[in-house]
Amino acid sequence: MSRLVVVSNRVSMPTERGARAGGLAVALADAMTPGSVWFGWSGKRMPATSNAATIVENKGVTYATIDLSESDYHRYYVGFSNGSLWPLLHYRTGLLEFRRDDYEGYLAVNEIFADRLTPLLKPDDIVWIHDYQLLTMAEALRQRGVRNRIGLFLHIPFVPPAVLHVLPSASVLVRAMAAADLVGFQTHGDRMNFLESAASCMGAAPDATNGFIHQGHRTETIVAPVGIDADGFAQAAKRAANMAETKRLIESLVGRDLAIGVDRLDYTKGLPQRFDAFGQLLHRHPEHLRRISFLQIAARSREDVDRYQSLRRELDRKAGDINGAYSDFDWTPLRYMTRAVNRNTIAGFYRLARIGVVTPLRDGMNLVAKEFVAAQDSADPGVLVLSRFAGAAEDMTEALIVNPYDADAVADAMHAALIMEKDERITRHAALLAKIRKHTAASFCRDFLRRLKFIERATG
Ligand code: G6P
Repeated sequence: MSRLVVVSNRVSMPTERGARAGGLAVALADAMTPGSVWFGWSGKRMPATSNAATIVENKGVTYATIDLSESDYHRYYVGFSNGSLWPLLHYRTGLLEFRRDDYEGYLAVNEIFADRLTPLLKPDDIVWIHDYQLLTMAEALRQRGVRNRIGLFLHIPFVPPAVLHVLPSASVLVRAMAAADLVGFQTHGDRMNFLESAASCMGAAPDATNGFIHQGHRTETIVAPVGIDADGFAQAAKRAANMAETKRLIESLVGRDLAIGVDRLDYTKGLPQRFDAFGQLLHRHPEHLRRISFLQIAARSREDVDRYQSLRRELDRKAGDINGAYSDFDWTPLRYMTRAVNRNTIAGFYRLARIGVVTPLRDGMNLVAKEFVAAQDSADPGVLVLSRFAGAAEDMTEALIVNPYDADAVADAMHAALIMEKDERITRHAALLAKIRKHTAASFCRDFLRRLKFIERATG
């Protein structure tokens, strides 16, 4: 039987799970069945990048990790991955900071990943590479003679050619992505953008099944939306009712409604705009004054990237402005924390909330939207306010869909959610729940891997 070898920048070790991580770690943890291998960065910075992977076995899964040198970390992770690719692929070209040295560091670390993985591979292994940090790794593996089936999945959006070409090295990256046998995307729009980019970078026109051939190699594409273990998360949310944290939150609310937002502290998440919208809700609908508390958990993230530091200062200021303007001596409208909170605890918080506010300016999928729905009490559910620019909005049409740039519209949606009749809440929730139970983390992995296994192994 062929082994599954998952490769991602970050490896989520079982001992470290629990604190809220990005969507990738949440989805992949479920794919790691006994016998599989998870390869990637240890998250550690050392004087030198590792010469070989450190291997740890846990419950039949092999975790193989390498450390990065300070310089590789800065050029590959801080510089190119998160200073160039992340803003570019979220349509934020104005934030892009391209430095040739970072780009070269990115290519070099992708090659190091390939060098360290190659000796661990068996001929039948299926290699599944994840996300924007490793766009050139499939090509690096091929250059090292690896003929295994290779899949690549992008957890974040993909942009149309006109946006993509803002990045000086864009064509090199698209060509390298095409070295995989199967490239996966969260939405149909993302796949279409990739195919158009492939045509523009390599002249490779897609065929009827959305694949293309370049220099004799066929690249197939798939749309496979990432999901969650909806039933498992619903159980966690129910169990959380007995947790001390849930009880403390209930006590602190003294009967007020709870609105909740949970995100990494990232400029793609639309947090300043969300704070403005909440301010507008209090301004335009004063009946909610002293009746609602908004809890925003924004876990600090990528703190070595300048733009994340300035965002944090901006949010500190905005939260202060809103609370300064609207607080009463016994009521603080906005509770804003930048500490990560355990995922099980958050499940219980979602269940208490009347509104879940998920308003990214652009997001690959956004699993918080799905978790919020899974966590609700079906007999008296809260309402999801969801940005049209989250991948999740392609399917979750029964949420209140908003444009996150329009603070008044988001405020109105929050108001509509707060006054929505129970019947309507139940109907919307039931429809959403049925959808998220259909596209789970497990079905995402199954669909992608089934398709990849079907592809003939490269020969020659
Ligand atoms: C997003 C990305 C992941 C990334 C995660 C956390 O979900 O798609 O690739 O791992 O954010 O970001 P970090 O930079 O801390 O790994």
